[in-house]
Amino acid sequence: MSTDSKPAGSIGVAMKRKEDPRFIQGKGHYVDDITMPSMLYMALVRSPYPHAEITSIDATEALKVPGVKAVITGKDLDAAGLGWLPTFHGQDKQMVLAIGKVLFQYQEVAAVFAETRAGAADGAEAVEVEYTPLPVVADPFTAKTDTVILRPDREIKSNHIFHWEVGDKEATARALATSATRISQRMWFQRCHPAPLEPCGCVAHFDTMGRLQFHVTSQAPHVYRTALSLVTGIPEDKIHVISPDIGGGFGNKVPVYPGYVCAIVGALKLGRPVKWIETRTENLTSTGFARDYHIDVEIGATADGKVTALRVATVADHGAFDAAADPRGFPAGMFGIVTGSYDFPAAHAEVDGYFTNKAPGGIAYRCSFRVTEASFAIERGMDILADELGIDPVELRRKNFVRRDQFPYPSPLGFTYDSGDYHKTLDVALEKIGYQALLKEQAEKRARGELMGIGISTFTEVVGAGPSKQFNILGIKMFDSAEIRIHPTGAGIVRAGTKSQGQGHETTWAQIVAEELGLDPQNIMVEEGDTDTAPYGLGTYASRSTPVAGAAIAMAARRIREKARKVAAHLLEVGEADVEWTDYTFQVKGVPARRVTMKEVAFAAYTNMAQNEPGLEATYYYDPPNMTFPYGTYIAVVDVDRDTGEVKVRRFLAVDDCGTIINPVIVEGQIHGGLTEGFAIAFMQEIQYDSEGNNLTTNFTDYLLPTSLETPHWDTAKTTTPSPHHPIGAKGVGESPNVGSPAAFVNAVIDALSPLGVRHIDMPLTRDKVWRAIQAAEAKKASA
Ligand code: CDP
Repeated sequence: MSTDSKPAGSIGVAMKRKEDPRFIQGKGHYVDDITMPSMLYMALVRSPYPHAEITSIDATEALKVPGVKAVITGKDLDAAGLGWLPTFHGQDKQMVLAIGKVLFQYQEVAAVFAETRAGAADGAEAVEVEYTPLPVVADPFTAKTDTVILRPDREIKSNHIFHWEVGDKEATARALATSATRISQRMWFQRCHPAPLEPCGCVAHFDTMGRLQFHVTSQAPHVYRTALSLVTGIPEDKIHVISPDIGGGFGNKVPVYPGYVCAIVGALKLGRPVKWIETRTENLTSTGFARDYHIDVEIGATADGKVTALRVATVADHGAFDAAADPRGFPAGMFGIVTGSYDFPAAHAEVDGYFTNKAPGGIAYRCSFRVTEASFAIERGMDILADELGIDPVELRRKNFVRRDQFPYPSPLGFTYDSGDYHKTLDVALEKIGYQALLKEQAEKRARGELMGIGISTFTEVVGAGPSKQFNILGIKMFDSAEIRIHPTGAGIVRAGTKSQGQGHETTWAQIVAEELGLDPQNIMVEEGDTDTAPYGLGTYASRSTPVAGAAIAMAARRIREKARKVAAHLLEVGEADVEWTDYTFQVKGVPARRVTMKEVAFAAYTNMAQNEPGLEATYYYDPPNMTFPYGTYIAVVDVDRDTGEVKVRRFLAVDDCGTIINPVIVEGQIHGGLTEGFAIAFMQEIQYDSEGNNLTTNFTDYLLPTSLETPHWDTAKTTTPSPHHPIGAKGVGESPNVGSPAAFVNAVIDALSPLGVRHIDMPLTRDKVWRAIQAAEAKKASA
């Protein structure tokens, strides 16, 4: 077994990176690489209007385009009972192709099938659709008035989708009313988009047995199989979902999109394979967006800075259909984590969702279902409170942290945090960044009129959905699974219900098996994303893979170890009770020299098993007893140019605690990627609509991705506080940097501008917005 390094806090088995081909993730097997004889291509006709009646659809000209084979519309699908698609949490449904009217710009109106990709696109252009525009509701606050009802198909004639609340409303109101200090701030976490580099796509094909072979960019292949069976009526055994390599998902590839259903219908109708690959614009304008939460935060505190109460009220813009990829029963996801790392005696949070004429979604973009919004709200709120009290934001946080001795900590909003040592992680961060020296430098710069800011975020998140008593999608409980087979030579295969999109499960799942069984990780094959071979799982999103599937893998390996112990006892000629597992070998208790390796046992399991059942394999379905609660301290240091509004992120330090680390290199990669996305959200990205519901950010010249030129350098460090309920003590980590970093950036910029009296600016903090805030603040000062 290669154990060439074992950093503190990691599980012990390190891979020889350069030698292992699994570190080269892309094997060139993406959906768009698939070609099949007689394959057709599909293109979608999309609405230019955000809200309109469809007066007519005429496909005559489209069918004359060379190579076009068929055009289908919403009416055709509706007649076949396929007009609507259930959304994942099951509380709403979504039109597959528009029926009667369109509800957002770029909504799917018709599907065109042709011999070539260009032919399909030309055919889509040639479909003539007549629309009668309707009044547009682009603002969720306007939607509240219900003057225009967007979804008359629903029983309730209102644009209000849901009201969700948690906590003690009265106690919170009382505590706020009697608090010595009280702050309130409205903040908008803007609409963003995960923008994976590979857009969504599929190839649908009915094989000679009439079985649907569905290759698709899915983060949750098994759930797709079940959902497609429910939507199309095709029995689940006649559906094979294969998710090949995926070029980034970030939550965008969780929902089942209309294009997938159309491709399947086309393949069935025309008896030929159908490929559909979205364009960049289609991805940005019609697939799951993220955030779009208007959050009112109120915090009460004593005069010396002890928090007394938190009240949060949110208006959520869900677009035209409630297609948020939240677990059923959690319409606002895990927003209840909004008390963060702080010990609030009273708290209350509520969220109201509204329909608007915008693209539907509300997906967990590198976020455990609304945790990013919650984390941003509390971390901004704490900084505003510190400013109000005239206390250092670090000291305010230190004073109010949940203490180490309070874990397992029952939060006032219903979670039980598993473990943490927030003071320690904060101290590590302050020491590493040289906080006192930074304060000194800032004071000097301020004396010279320069704008330097230090921003801190000490977030806690909740990942690992989830315990079956609370979490399900389409009614399916959110467990996960693993199957491990060890071959006679000690090599093996692990199959899981998860699906890596670049997170490196190929490496880390092999490491867990290797660590538990004392085998070489380089000879443990990892297979995911194939519903014919992997046991049923709920997929990869919301940093749930390690907390749930990672645990299933460890538990399946332990089952194998128990079986192997019997074979080892036979080989060592002792009773099973006399065999112990030490130093990755089976040893006779008290006689360590008498030992056998797992490799020897594996061979014996097929060749010399005595009375034991042959073979060495196990399956485990893991239902987590609780969520895991990773956390961190992030510190950003910025300089703001007073004349141009340009923000330079001079330093950024992320100290994360995700419990036991499986692979430090992969965790580092996760942190770097997530910080880069958080940076983009804080400074560059917004899916922008005008007041008429037109999407103004339909490509990468308007919706910006950070390049190496603007991305800052990331410094990182770790503390390790294992999860007490996870078999190997690991918590999720993939989304921590995206959850924790936006508030650190914004806090830093506002800290820089605070001498001017600026208290809050909504993201993205573009140069233009920052410059305007400086101008407004200076004008106000001048007129005072
Ligand atoms: O669900 P997803 O894979 O996106 O997120 P995750 O569970 O946080 O894992 C992301 C990657 O980091 C996986 O390869 C994990 O196995 C790895 N990881 C790790 O090495 N140690 C941890 N404590 C957590 C995650």
